[in-house]
Amino acid sequence: MMLRFPANFLWGAATAAYQIEGAADEDGRGPSIWDAFARKPGAVTHGDSGAIACDHYHRWEADLDLMASLGLRSYRFSVAWPRVLPEGRGAVNQRGLDFYKRLIDGLHARGITPMATLYHWDLPQALEERGGWANRDTTDAFAEYAAVVYEALGDEVPFWITLNEPWCAAYLGYGNGKHAPGITDGATWLSAAHHLLLGHGKAVSALRAKGCRDGLGITLNLSAVHPASDDPRDVAAARRCDGHENRLFLDPLFRGSYPDDVVSRYAQVTDWSFVRDGDISTIAAPLDLLGVNYYLRHRVADDSLDSGHGWVLLPPTTPRTAVGIGTEPSGLTEVLVRLKNEYTTLPLYVTENGAAYHDYVDPEGGVDDVERVSFFDSHFRAAHAAIAQGVELRGYYVWSLLDNFEWADGYSRRYGIVFVDFGTQRRIPKQSAYWYQKVIQSNGLTS
Ligand code: FCB
Repeated sequence: MMLRFPANFLWGAATAAYQIEGAADEDGRGPSIWDAFARKPGAVTHGDSGAIACDHYHRWEADLDLMASLGLRSYRFSVAWPRVLPEGRGAVNQRGLDFYKRLIDGLHARGITPMATLYHWDLPQALEERGGWANRDTTDAFAEYAAVVYEALGDEVPFWITLNEPWCAAYLGYGNGKHAPGITDGATWLSAAHHLLLGHGKAVSALRAKGCRDGLGITLNLSAVHPASDDPRDVAAARRCDGHENRLFLDPLFRGSYPDDVVSRYAQVTDWSFVRDGDISTIAAPLDLLGVNYYLRHRVADDSLDSGHGWVLLPPTTPRTAVGIGTEPSGLTEVLVRLKNEYTTLPLYVTENGAAYHDYVDPEGGVDDVERVSFFDSHFRAAHAAIAQGVELRGYYVWSLLDNFEWADGYSRRYGIVFVDFGTQRRIPKQSAYWYQKVIQSNGLTS
C-alpha cells in the first residue's frame, strides 16, 4: 500500500547562499550584514561565520552531482545580493551573476528544476549602514537588485521567491537582535517588516515589468498557534502571538490591510507612519504561488508575569529536536489548510521543513539519522493529509541539502540530509538522504 503524492510533485531540497557558499571575499562579493554580525563577540556560537561554510562556491559541481544522485527534482537556493551588487545599489558585479548562471545551467543539465530566492537575509552591509530595512530606500534598492537578477537569469528559472521569512529578517534582525544586524528595538522591527513587504511588492512589479508571468511568490514562516487552554486570557494571548508571527504578513499580502488588533496593539510603540498611501496595494500585488516554511506549533498562555511580550510559549510535550523545538507534524496540516480556508487558493509549496539532530559519523562510516527519517516521514504524511483536504500543494523542499552555517547557532546545529565534515568538506549522505531518494523514486510513502 502506497501513500502517493500528485503527479509531478516537486520533491526538492533547500539551501541559502550565506549558509553554504563561503568564498566571502571572492570574485568581487561585497560584505553582508551577516559578515559584520558574525564578527561581533558573542553574536554567533563559537564565533563561527559563513566565510568558508560548505565551500559550495567552489564545490557546486560535485554538490549538483550529489543532488542528481539522490534524484532531487528541484533545488531551492538563494542569490546573494552582495555578490551581484557589492554596494547594494549601482555597479553590477558580473562575476557574481556568472556563478548563478553556471549553477542554473548545471541544474538543467542534470534535469533539476531551479527555484531561486532573491533575499535570504544577506543584506549588503553598505545598505545597513544607511539604515537597512528600517530605511524605506532599501525597498527601491531591493526592486533594482531583483530586476538585475531577473534580467540575467529570469529565462532559466521557472520559480522565483522574493523574500525568505520576512518575520525572521524583521523581528530577529531588528526586534530581539538574535540575527543580523542585531538591533533590539520594539518599533524598528515593525518598520523593517513593512519595508520588507513593500520591497517584496516593488520587486514583484519589477519582475512583472520584465516579463515574469508565472512562478512568482514569497516564502513566509508560518506557525500553528493554539491557546494552552480555553481560558479567554490564553485564547487572547494566542491571538496576539498569531498576529505577530502570521497575520502581520498574511493580511497585507492577501487581504490588503494590516490586522486591526495588531495595529492597535503596537500603537504603544509606533504611530505606523512608515505606512504610506498606496503601500498596501503594492504589497498585495497578485502572486502565482506561496512558499511555506514550517517549523513550529505553539501552545500559548497568557503572560501572567507580564514579561512584556504579551504571551508565553509553553515548553513542547513532544520529542524535541537538537534546537529544543517539539516535533509537531499536525501543525503542518493545520497551517496548509488554514491558508486555503482563510487566505488563498494559490498553489502552495513547502519551501522549507526539517530538523536538527546531534548527527555523527559512526564507526562504519555512515550517519544513521533515524530521528530525521521519522521526522520527515511524519511531516510528509501531514502534507499528504492537507492535500487530501483539498490543498493545492505542489512541492516540498527539505531543509536542508547540506549541514551548514545555522545563523546564530553557527555550525553547532546540523539540519542536512547530507553530513558535512567541515574540516575536510567531505559530504556523507545520511540515512535520511537514502530514504528520501526512495520516497522521490516512488513518489510516496508505504503506509
Ligand atoms: C529557517 C531559515 C533557514 C534555516 C532554518 C533552520 O528559519 O529560513 O535558513 O536556518 O530555519
